[in-house]
Amino acid sequence: MKVHELQGEIMRLKKEKDVCILAHAYQSEPILEIADHVGDSYGLSVQASGDAHSNMVMCGVRFMAETCKVLSPGKRVYLANPAAGCPMAEQLSPGSLRELKEQYPGYVVVAYINTTAALKTECDVCVTSSSAVQICRAMPEKKILFIPDPNLGHYVAGQIPEKTFAFWQGGCPRHACMTRRDVEAARALHPDALLLVHPECRGEVVREADYIGSTTGIMSYAKRSDAGEFIIGTEISIVEHLQYQCPDKRFYPLSANLTCPDMRATTLMDVYHCLRGTGGEEILLPEETMEGAGRCIRRMIELGG
Ligand code: 13P
Ligand code: SF4
Repeated sequence: MKVHELQGEIMRLKKEKDVCILAHAYQSEPILEIADHVGDSYGLSVQASGDAHSNMVMCGVRFMAETCKVLSPGKRVYLANPAAGCPMAEQLSPGSLRELKEQYPGYVVVAYINTTAALKTECDVCVTSSSAVQICRAMPEKKILFIPDPNLGHYVAGQIPEKTFAFWQGGCPRHACMTRRDVEAARALHPDALLLVHPECRGEVVREADYIGSTTGIMSYAKRSDAGEFIIGTEISIVEHLQYQCPDKRFYPLSANLTCPDMRATTLMDVYHCLRGTGGEEILLPEETMEGAGRCIRRMIELGG
């Protein structure tokens, strides 16, 4: 079957079964073309909470599908490829977090949304890369234990010097592997390019950037900018999407190491099988997880606006 034939079949099935397809911005071009909503983690959560379809298919990673399920308890939510997880989301277990909290009495726990729903039950609020600064600033609490990504945490803390932050040593294995040497090498090759990076990158990379933001933040900045060349410090798919969307501008990856295998795992054929009922996984969460994670995620949406 050709790609466009498969896309046509997916469109037919999703209409017949009243399914909304959500795709994270890191997904492949053929998947973005058949999605109802494309966005960063925050945008997808908000869109999922307001969507009217009876079923949802998430093309992204497991924590994103769990977030949709928590926000839409009455709907059937599927993860198109059950093997797609986010390594960062699995780094801290609820039991380890309980032990960590004992070391930080009086601290409120802010979880990056890249965490399991089970872990979120132990947290006070979650944040995404695009909403973290706003939410941490808006919270009345002055002491914040930020988990699991210290790179994002330090970036947020730098914007809110009036609050006290504590961190845990997790992080994204893809973003954290870029260093200032990659910046120097990329700038040497492309001296006129602006550097746009995700806040999951190390401080030594973030400090060199012309713009720091979420996946969709990076894309919007590049589209709006008058500059003609950009070095992109996030998953490699964003380079390709920007090349299609801005054919007159040039985009280069900050490093050759920027492929997230989990975000690349989902194929158009997985979406097709998920819609046919021959693949994918329905997300089912225990009642107490739905409740605890729901409190944490809804507080994010309240504070994030
Ligand atoms: P966004 O918040 O930009 O969607 O990032 C999600 C993610 O997994 C980054 O690696
Ligand atoms: Fe997780 Fe990093 Fe992949 Fe994003 S890029 S899904 S944070 S491993």
